[in-house]
Amino acid sequence: MNAPMPVSKSARAGRFITFEGGEGAGKSTQVRKLVEALSARGLETVATREPGGSPNAEELRKALLAGLVAPLGPAAEAMIFSAARIDHLDILIKPALARGAFVVCDRFADSTRAYQGALGSLSDEFIDGLERVTVGDNMPDLTFMLDVPAEEGLARAGKRRGDEAVDRFEAENIDFHRKLREAFRDIAERNPQRCVIIDATRPPDDVAADIWREVETRLLGQEASA
Ligand code: TYD
Repeated sequence: MNAPMPVSKSARAGRFITFEGGEGAGKSTQVRKLVEALSARGLETVATREPGGSPNAEELRKALLAGLVAPLGPAAEAMIFSAARIDHLDILIKPALARGAFVVCDRFADSTRAYQGALGSLSDEFIDGLERVTVGDNMPDLTFMLDVPAEEGLARAGKRRGDEAVDRFEAENIDFHRKLREAFRDIAERNPQRCVIIDATRPPDDVAADIWREVETRLLGQEASA
């Protein structure tokens, strides 16, 4: 049985929204703006991120971003990101969704598919299998792919970082970041019911307005106001 498992909406009362994209796409700003907008509506909203989001997963984050797992290769790296994800889901995401909260997460399984899967040349079978055992029917209801050209994203990330050292993933070359962008676009094209590509080269408030319109129409059951 190779068909993906259906997402069981009845098992959770809340809604799960993720943000994906390359470096410097503005994910953290948009996560903050969306959390503010949902909270202003009186909706319980939990902001979180990956890798991390639970104490054990934050420990794994340190090792991953320091590049300690990289020498083991992309398959092992994908498994450690997934191990962190299992804890994050169990400790934070699933309980929040069960009690009816909105969960807004900065990166999730699509990052493993893009960074380790596409860029690490892992097979679809490997990534599909890993995603199935790690995430199962807890895939996001809605995923925003924040899309910026690789050059622009890297320039933004460099500015934000200032004098701090680059992490393992920022240190990859421009070709890596171009392929990464294509990988995220490819995931979005294959999952149009879940994913929305957002042009993130525009001012943050314009990007946030597009995101809010999608959340209203897709998850809050309202037609967007003009
Ligand atoms: P972070 O500092 O949070 O970067 P960003 O602001 O770009 O989100 O670092 C997370 C890094 O980990 C980022 O470069 C993407 C990478 N990553 C993976 O390679 N695989 C994954 O499954 C996840 C969740 C992140």
